[in-house]
Amino acid sequence: MVKVLFICLGNICRSPLAEGIFNHKVKELGLEGKFTSDSCGTSDYHIGELPDERTLACAQKHEVHISHRARQMNRVDIREFDYLVAMDMSNKRNIQSLMTHFNMPHEQLFLLREFHPNPEHIEVPDPYYGGEEGFEQVFKILDESLDHFLVRLKTEHNTYV
Ligand code: 4NP
Repeated sequence: MVKVLFICLGNICRSPLAEGIFNHKVKELGLEGKFTSDSCGTSDYHIGELPDERTLACAQKHEVHISHRARQMNRVDIREFDYLVAMDMSNKRNIQSLMTHFNMPHEQLFLLREFHPNPEHIEVPDPYYGGEEGFEQVFKILDESLDHFLVRLKTEHNTYV
């Protein structure tokens, strides 16, 4: 099983949505036995909480199922997951600090939008302090970027579907 971890700051907006959309796509492709994902945050701000109501509303609108409680990234994640996929540069820097702290280098740290062949921007913007339209914009970015990420995963792991 190839294990993917989506990481943002609070683990209540972007990364649980990324996890939900990724799992939805994997199921549609019939690849549940091949790829699995989880999500977490670099901060401890919302540990144990359900995703933000706006995240849940956006997921529901697009018929994506999310079942997740926020958790903070820890050292075990660095070892357990094959791909660590951050939403923005600040998340990436926080993850790199954690790796340095634990002396656990990880080759597979990415920004999600890196997988897009022509990225308009390299970050998934933080929608927390904005309105609902920000969540819709994030959904679109995640949806497109995850399609490209899955193409990459299928190629790297010889899955021809
Ligand atoms: P997320 O969004 O990192 O996409 O889950 C945020 C959620 C909470 C906060 C910031 C960003 N916060 O400052 O509490």
